[in-house]
Amino acid sequence: MTVTVRAFAKINLGLYIGALREDGYHDLHTVYQTIALHDVVRVSVGRGTGIEIQCADPRVPCDKSNTCFRVAGRVLDALDAIGKVTIEIEKRLPVQGGLGAASSNAVAAMIGLEHALRKPLEQRVRLRIAADVGSDLPQFVVGGTVLGVGRGEEVYPLADFASTAVVVVTPEIGVSTPKAFGDWDRLTHLGASDRLLEVGRVLSAWLVSPNTGAPALGRSRAGSPLLDLVRTGIENDFERVVFPQYPELRDIKGALQRAGAAYVSLSGSGSTVYGLFRTRAAATKAADRLTKQGLRAMATTTLTRQQYWKKSLVAGG
Ligand code: C5P
Repeated sequence: MTVTVRAFAKINLGLYIGALREDGYHDLHTVYQTIALHDVVRVSVGRGTGIEIQCADPRVPCDKSNTCFRVAGRVLDALDAIGKVTIEIEKRLPVQGGLGAASSNAVAAMIGLEHALRKPLEQRVRLRIAADVGSDLPQFVVGGTVLGVGRGEEVYPLADFASTAVVVVTPEIGVSTPKAFGDWDRLTHLGASDRLLEVGRVLSAWLVSPNTGAPALGRSRAGSPLLDLVRTGIENDFERVVFPQYPELRDIKGALQRAGAAYVSLSGSGSTVYGLFRTRAAATKAADRLTKQGLRAMATTTLTRQQYWKKSLVAGG
């Protein structure tokens, strides 16, 4: 049996970097938001043993360094299962694009493998495996709007926003995340921990605001737009080190603003730049305009947690 899973992308609604830790990671605060753009991951289990990764895109490693490989091994161990696992990745999202594609692929492989084996993992085990394999994975075990703290692996589901229109621009630039963190350290001379206090105050004020009030957490905030959060002035610290190196990304930010976006930001360490729009029609129009300017622009929407899980498994796949 082959199980087909949509591996959805994420964007970051603000990302604040703290000090370099002794373990080589940085503390950070971010809000992750899943969006409808996705790769497709097919998982099958047959007789025998071993894990095989297949991907037609030469930029995706098919050896042990692939996060899907590492997750699949951990899932087999946790479920005490044996079999020959084949994971096929159909790449649609950019590689090293700041959309979390590799991490999302790995969590999709975990979900697909559980279904193929007909053995579910406990949520806390999923979260542990995801966090062991990479800081960006656990958010995809939750989906929707997710607060990420620690090195990004400590995740807390936030109340969902009504689905919001997004335009994603994905230039042909791969940005190395470890290098971007190193550049941040050089820029801030390792003295950046006050960034986390600052964003803590902003997020805390937003969470208890009348629109997003704590009592509303846990149910959908239909009609209260995501734009409330971005109006707090949240920023992505990576822009300060990535834009000077790739000025074309700053130009793309300007182009999205001119095309009518209500909020524009780099996603993760880039190279993707996204814009939030008030309506789907405005997003589609902006994507068309940017495409005519020679940019790779796609109109899409954010996904609520419920939509994320409903659309995750491809029926009949
Ligand atoms: O967690 P992951 O393996 O994806 O992280 C890759 C690299 O990115 C780490 O080895 C580290 O250099 C950097 N990183 C960091 N701080 C984080 C997350 C990642 O410095 N919070």
